[in-house]
Amino acid sequence: MHATLHQLKVFETTARLGSFTKAAEELSITQPTVSSQIKQLSKVVTLPLFEQIGKRLYLTDAGTELLETCQEIFEKLENFEMKIADFKGTKEGKLSLAVVSTAKYFIPRLLGYFCQEYPNIDVSLKVTNHKEIEQRMGENADDLYILSQPPQNLDLFTKPFLDNPLVVLAPSNHPLVNEKNIPIKCLDGESFIMREKGSGTRVAVENLFAQQNVSVRVRLDLGNNEAIKQAIVGGLGISVLSGHTLISQGNTDDLAILDVEHFPIKCRWYVAHLGGKQLSVIAQTFLEYLLEESQKIPLPFQHFLNSKKQEISLLNNKKHFELVN
Ligand code: PGA
Repeated sequence: MHATLHQLKVFETTARLGSFTKAAEELSITQPTVSSQIKQLSKVVTLPLFEQIGKRLYLTDAGTELLETCQEIFEKLENFEMKIADFKGTKEGKLSLAVVSTAKYFIPRLLGYFCQEYPNIDVSLKVTNHKEIEQRMGENADDLYILSQPPQNLDLFTKPFLDNPLVVLAPSNHPLVNEKNIPIKCLDGESFIMREKGSGTRVAVENLFAQQNVSVRVRLDLGNNEAIKQAIVGGLGISVLSGHTLISQGNTDDLAILDVEHFPIKCRWYVAHLGGKQLSVIAQTFLEYLLEESQKIPLPFQHFLNSKKQEISLLNNKKHFELVN
């Protein structure tokens, strides 16, 4: 084989983007150069790498195999560059993170502080829901992932690092606001705003409602925690969201946490990476930073949890509430 690194880069970019034109744009070269590099590479491999059907480009089996090989090569080279920078006493390189929607309430700030300490790193942060995180894990798209309920069917390293309690949120004028220990059955028939399909929060809520035989009236499916809070304030219904979503609540008078039996749902966030993944120096450094710094993050509704603790000790009914800390 006499393929050049440049040809492999052109091929990897084309395969990843599924287009000669987009690859040319990303690499700042012309489209005919992309085509001729791919042609030469196919000659070296002695098999076609792509099939063009209509306007779409498909990888052949040989192309698929070569793409995996290229990705391994480029990952290793990137790691090598980061290690060299580390030997020289500077940390530089790329950090790619994918986090579930609720983690966006603290990760960007943490990243900001991290980047101040290591100014020479480039960060890519994808904020999405549980299902897409699983897909990205399957594609080895990122260094680290943050989510609750890590999938069991993938070989993963996982470490829990922060509680993620899910609470019932209602508008502050809801009739149940001042009630204590509301039986979960009271939610039967309530107008409810549900996170979109693919959301881990939704799965946790649906599981609890199924276990407890509760049937809410879903008025709206929404894929955005902030929009859900606005919809609650607007009177469309109640919802269950991560307590961390309250961190950005400007006017806390608009929303209230309902003290419902079996809530908060006890979830934890995990930081994860693929089992076989050789973490870069930067990713390893960020992982350690995250585990240490997350211990200092206060829960935005600590008052509520504290008052629940008191009630529990008064009632001596520990089975009633599963507390997160
Ligand atoms: P999601 O997050 O609802 O945005 O999918 C769930 C999780 O905490 O994993």
